[in-house]
Amino acid sequence: MNDDLRWNKIFGAILATLLVIFALRQAAEMVFATHPPAKPGDAIAVQIASAGGESAAPDVPPDWGTVLPKADVAAGQMQSAKCASCHTFTNGGANGTGPNNWGVIGRAPGSHAGFVYSTAMTDFGKKTPAWDYDHLYMFLANPQSYIAGTKMTFVGLKQPQDRINLIAWLRQQSASPAAIPAPNPKAAAAAAAAPK
Ligand code: HEC
Repeated sequence: MNDDLRWNKIFGAILATLLVIFALRQAAEMVFATHPPAKPGDAIAVQIASAGGESAAPDVPPDWGTVLPKADVAAGQMQSAKCASCHTFTNGGANGTGPNNWGVIGRAPGSHAGFVYSTAMTDFGKKTPAWDYDHLYMFLANPQSYIAGTKMTFVGLKQPQDRINLIAWLRQQSASPAAIPAPNPKAAAAAAAAPK
């Protein structure tokens, strides 16, 4: 047998061994990685957070009484540019791909006159009396994961602070801005302790 052929065989054998090791490791990972979550909600929370790309910790709404007075409203207005292809935010503004969102905080989801909502949004409105800070915060993180079936095809704002600033600005796009609750230091501490 010539030398080249022998080396080919040796390399072939090494390669085959590596492939088998790799396949075994993959198989082991698949077997051990499929523990079901303790509660169904756990899996959802983890998904939302990992969509943010930072960590697997749940993305929980902040204490609004603490964060809203400090929010950067001008930065929030800049964020709203990402919504402008589909929404107007002015009083009496037209519906476009999405509904006019003047006064949306405090409004019942899926209720703006003249706009045809998805069934998903209409159903969400049946169990949610109004868009409040918490619901907006969760919805805007990842609309299609928060309300499965919504026709708002927007990827979401991953950064919590972007959402807080935007919500602070949104609050002002209203004839009667929603009240800012009193700060609740305990809730603020809990939200801050939740890893972001
Ligand atoms: C690609 C278009 C598009 C973009 C971009 C978009 N939206 Fe929407 N939005 C929609 C559509 C369509 C709906 C209606 C959803 C449904 O019926 O399921 C909607 C619904 C909403 C609602 C619910 C309104 C109601 O009356 O219940 C809110 C709040 C909202 N959008 C806020 C935003 C904000 C804030 C942004 C920017 C960060 C944004 N959207 C970006 C298309 C968009």
